Amino acid sequence: MSQALNEARHYEEETELQIDETERPAFHLSPRIGWMNDPNGFSFYGGKYHLFYQYYPYSSHWGPMHWGHAVSDDMIRWTYLPAALAPDESYDRDGCFSGSAVTMRDGKQLLMYTGAVSEKEFGGAFVQTQNLAVGDGLDYVKYKGNPVITAADLPKGGSPYDFRDPKMWREEDGSYGVVIACRNEGGYTQVVLFRSEDGMRWDFDTVLAENHDRIGRMWECPDFFRLDGKYVLLVSAMDMLPSGMEYHSGNNCVYFVGEYDRETGIFTEECDHAADYGIDFYAAQTTLTPDGRRVMIGWMQNPDTTSLRTLTHPVFGQMSIPRELSVRDGVLYQTPVRELSAYRTDPVVRENVRLDDADLSIHGISGRLVDLEVEIRAQDPVEGYREFRCRFACDERFYTEFCFRPKDSVISIDRKFSGQRRAIIRHREAGISHENGRLSFRMILDRYSAEVFVNGGEKVMTVTLETPREAEGISFHVKGKAILNIKKYRLEI
Ligand code: FRU
Repeated sequence: MSQALNEARHYEEETELQIDETERPAFHLSPRIGWMNDPNGFSFYGGKYHLFYQYYPYSSHWGPMHWGHAVSDDMIRWTYLPAALAPDESYDRDGCFSGSAVTMRDGKQLLMYTGAVSEKEFGGAFVQTQNLAVGDGLDYVKYKGNPVITAADLPKGGSPYDFRDPKMWREEDGSYGVVIACRNEGGYTQVVLFRSEDGMRWDFDTVLAENHDRIGRMWECPDFFRLDGKYVLLVSAMDMLPSGMEYHSGNNCVYFVGEYDRETGIFTEECDHAADYGIDFYAAQTTLTPDGRRVMIGWMQNPDTTSLRTLTHPVFGQMSIPRELSVRDGVLYQTPVRELSAYRTDPVVRENVRLDDADLSIHGISGRLVDLEVEIRAQDPVEGYREFRCRFACDERFYTEFCFRPKDSVISIDRKFSGQRRAIIRHREAGISHENGRLSFRMILDRYSAEVFVNGGEKVMTVTLETPREAEGISFHVKGKAILNIKKYRLEI
């Protein structure tokens, strides 16, 4: 084991003891110590789910990237393992950037990640190459033949400074594919696909998608998979311009749904959408579960706001709840993994609550570790109602609000009063389909976040919260005449 990895492993063991576990998110993975960004190597291996993550143990700010490592039986309750990778080779000395994991034919686990080397003469830009490490689910050995893919393997003019985030998979015939983000000669970002028979030697296959300045500048963290008879390409796009209610300015996680022909290598896009209509969801990655579900997890953070934070906590960063995916009518539906339901306790159920220009608080419906399901409909479908709002994480001073305006077919989330002192983006809207004001949502609340899954996961809104944990109120507000069905569970992890 290299000295850098050894040091990181000792450091995390000693330092994690200083962390008060109740200060962490209860059921969203946070770094063992220090800083976390992207999920990496999300996989099922050796009977457990593995999640690696972009990790800097030595401070709660981004630094030379390591890979942190955690395992779980159900994707909800995680156990930390020692750091898996440290930047300790000539080709990754300034960081082991994002990547992925697959199981090899011989039963070993294969990691592919981007090695970053800062070039002083180019203003510190990182030269990026793709590298392998082979392991047993605990310890990983970097491959002697690294790097295995470099910018020289790209079509002519591909940039070595933007070539990262390999996401591998195994085909049914046992061969391997990987998608990687890059930037071509013309300056446009692309997703390229390489193929391999043994996971070690890789050949360029095709340019799967290209940006042409439509959706941000550089794309990061691509993922590509077949689901429900379609193909989905996931990217995290930097520096986007806002576009209607679809995208906000800055970095967005975006998906394309389309068709793909392996013979010609052509991916035909049919539509693009935001993977999340909240504020904090980026760099998402998926895996297949043993029972065939496609599950996505994202970094629950907006990269634009990490430098604005006011908290000096020894850990920073958290993952979203893992989400089961399905594709219907060109839309990627997302629901919290079903394993979460096992942690529901103390149900409080109120059915057919009629509200007429009223505010409602219900005894027993409060808390910050909450799984809440709400259905709203108009008392009179012809007359409808004007507005529904649900406030949560509230007290006299703070609240965050989910709102639905049936006449405009718009949902929104607003954390203006959530306690963030320096947040710039604080409000998002999204279009939503409904019949006569019928809408349902499920909200998952943890100590520092809310994820709202609307209409069975057709749209999701994710926000992080800095609201003091004592702010536990949940209330409902209706303008007009509506009927609510409410189910609330406490989540006990
Ligand atoms: C996305 C990203 C990746 C990169 C990693 C570095 O958040 O910029 O493109 O591999 O973070 O930590």
